[in-house]
This record gives sequence, C-alpha cells and structure tokens, in this order.
Amino acid sequence: AMKAAALNRVQVHQGSLLLVNRNHPLQCTIPPEQIRPLEHSTVSLERKTALVLETLLSTIGSGSSIVPVSGFRTHKEQEEIYASSLRDHGEVFTRNYVALPGCSEHETGLAIDLALNREPVDFIRPYFPEDGICGRFRSKAASYGFIQRYPKGKESLTGIAPEPWHFRYVGLPHASIMNSHGFCLEEYLDYLMQFPYEGHHLEVRIENKSFEIFYLKAEDDVTRLTLPGYLPYQVSGDNREGFIFTLWR
Ligand code: DAL
Ligand code: ZN
Repeated sequence: AMKAAALNRVQVHQGSLLLVNRNHPLQCTIPPEQIRPLEHSTVSLERKTALVLETLLSTIGSGSSIVPVSGFRTHKEQEEIYASSLRDHGEVFTRNYVALPGCSEHETGLAIDLALNREPVDFIRPYFPEDGICGRFRSKAASYGFIQRYPKGKESLTGIAPEPWHFRYVGLPHASIMNSHGFCLEEYLDYLMQFPYEGHHLEVRIENKSFEIFYLKAEDDVTRLTLPGYLPYQVSGDNREGFIFTLWR
C-alpha cells in the first residue's frame, strides 16, 4: 500500500540537511521550543542535535575533557560576533572564520563548536586536536550523524577556512555517505540531485541497515508524492529548491 505525502514550500527551508552558506542564507528561524541547553552547559542546540551529541559524548566517555564552546546563536549574536571579530582580527580573518549574519549554521541550532578542555579556550577558533579524546570523538561522529563541516581542501566550496572544531548534525545515514565519498555538504546535495523521485534512487547499506534516498524538487505551493506505506521515512529541505527523502528499508 502507498501513502500520500504533502509538503509546504516553507519546508524547503527546514530540516537537518539544510545548506546554509554565503549563497544560501537562512530563511526560517527555529522556534525557541525546539532549542534546549546541553547538559551541564549554557550552550544550546536544536533538541534532536542536543540529544545525539550528548549520547555521543557519553559513549566515548569524554566527561569534562570536551567542552561545548558555541552552539545555537541568535541572528543578533552572530551580528555581534561578526562585528567584534572585524574589530579585533580584521576583514580577512573574519571572512575566513565567521559566517555572515543570516548565513551561519549556528543560527539553525544544528552546529556545535567543541574544544578540548584546556585554558585558554578560544571562542572563534577553539582547539580540537586530531588525537586523544578529540580523535575518539571524530572517529565516532559520522555514525551519530555529525560531519566536520569545513574540511581542508573544500574552502572554495564552503567559503570558510578549515575548522576542525565545528561539527554539523546532518543525521543518518548522510554523515557516513559523505565521509565515504569525501563530500562536503555542498557536494553531497549536488550528488543527491542525481537520484530524483521519478528515477533511480540511491540505495545504501550502513551498519546493517538499508536506506533509500531520493531528491524531489519543490513545487511553487504544495508538493505532493506517494511513498510506500509501510516504510518509516524522514524528509528534509535543502534550503535551495527541494527535499531529500530518507527511507529506512
Ligand atoms: N564559524 C562559522 C563559519 C560560523 O560563524 O558560522
Ligand atoms: Zn562553528
């Protein structure tokens, strides 16, 4: 049996696969009730992102050795960070390390900057090395749905310098697929457009689970489609022109 689904245009700008960068500003602000502080912290994140991050940190037994430095930021906070960085560090540094207000993933609640707990903690460029507990975090991040959003070598696509401390929640199985292909988010969303609803879907098997993924371009008003009725699925906008569907097979 099939089930019908309908998506509103605004949903193009909602979900865990949103592309937010210089060319793709945020279009929706996340409702305050979908944001909460991390345990033992004043740093907040989107609820699901917070839960998954806490689970990951506790799985690796990080205790107090990894600290959340910056998570959800309001538009006004991003403006203040941008202005103070311009004043203190100049234009080149700021363009490389601070997103334009309205174009920061931190305004979605899906991004977290982490630091090794060692004084002093740099707010804009926290120290999060490759080895030790931070390395353990990195090695598990993808299987919890987190990617390192600004890798070395992708600067021309992301518009941001390498940031080994900035992790972005994209969910499962997307983080693992991105890592296995070496895709940054810009590349991954382009790749997924090769698997349209009407055509051949992407099928992947990760950690003994099978997934089916496809892209659907949004209509001007309501976008309608039918899906297999018995499969759980998730949908996210890409903050561009369409939706990504993920089916658990
Ligand atoms: N540091 C990242 C790019 C931001 O400001 O969102
Ligand atoms: Zn960040």
